[in-house]
Amino acid sequence: MTKQRDPLVLGIESTCDETGVALVRGGTLLADRTATSMDEYARYGGIIPEIASRAHLESFLPTLQGALEEADVELTDVDAIAVAAGPGLVGSLTVGICAGKALASALGVPIYGVNHVLGHLAVDELVDGPMPDRFIGLVVSGGHSNLLLVNDLATDVVELGGTLDDAAGEAFDKVGRLLGLPYPGGPHVDRLSQHGDRDAIRFPRGLAAGKDKERYKYDFSFSGLKTAVSRYLKGLEAQGIEPVASDVCAGFSEAVNDSLTAKAVRACLDYDCNTIVVGGGFSANSRLRQLLTERAEVRGITVRMPPLRFCTDNGAQIAAMGSQLMRAGVFPSDPEFSPDSQMPLNQMSMA
Ligand code: KG4
Ligand code: ZN
Repeated sequence: MTKQRDPLVLGIESTCDETGVALVRGGTLLADRTATSMDEYARYGGIIPEIASRAHLESFLPTLQGALEEADVELTDVDAIAVAAGPGLVGSLTVGICAGKALASALGVPIYGVNHVLGHLAVDELVDGPMPDRFIGLVVSGGHSNLLLVNDLATDVVELGGTLDDAAGEAFDKVGRLLGLPYPGGPHVDRLSQHGDRDAIRFPRGLAAGKDKERYKYDFSFSGLKTAVSRYLKGLEAQGIEPVASDVCAGFSEAVNDSLTAKAVRACLDYDCNTIVVGGGFSANSRLRQLLTERAEVRGITVRMPPLRFCTDNGAQIAAMGSQLMRAGVFPSDPEFSPDSQMPLNQMSMA
């Protein structure tokens, strides 16, 4: 719930290719603006950090201006700055952090260097209301696939597991490349999979059997699966047979989402939680949304997932995280903090 006296938090996101600026008061989103340099990378087949950093520099001021106008507030109304401090690309993070520090210093307000991955969960408050007391967080993006036990998003997060190799989005991007789809392949593989037969090709599920199943209860592995897809395609090529891309995508997507959803539900049952909150770019995946909802429902578990516009990186998630930290009474960051490209998931903000 938002009270009029709740602080106005300006959030800045620049971990990768999106420059996001948003304004949040309490649990209410007042403005959210994003610029992206993604279009520049299609021809390279991947993000070029140098180009991304430069694009942040060019986009920051217009994005900030747009957000202030949208919220109908002045810069001097801002009570605190929240900026993504990691994980992400160091050059990109540095641009956002420098901008945040300059604003905080000029306005004389505190700054919070926040964990951008936890922000993917925090954004849920802006849509579905106050965060549940205790929940399982499933963070799925191009760089992360993690299960978290969230006792309190502002103060107490425990990492239960993560991927041993590729992240879910990364695996989708790699399979997209194998199929000759544009970068990033994730949304294209998702779209094709919706027209395919998910039972036509059975691809392996990583860490799902034998000793691995117990040892890596909440971990994921997608690189063997990607290799299986590659082998399957090469096998057909050797025989001069065209693959049915939609079936390949559907079978592959099923294998990834079977693992993600089975382990998320299991974590919920093991830790006696009745809510799963999902976040990150990959949470836009249609089969993830469908399968998780189905599997959670039969166990009486509620699933909270962001609308598509909040799945990929955005300023709202950073402002929401900052707002939650402030309301929990967490101390602001020392303004001397540096970016941390490997910021751990049990660290909510910079000291
Ligand atoms: O969270 P995000 O914007 O950036 C990172 O922090 O990584 O996530 C981007 C990732 C990319 O790998 C992209 O291909 C994937 O999310 N993605 C999807 C879909 N939409 C985005 N993957 C599968 N299905 C989708 N619909
Ligand atoms: Zn992200």
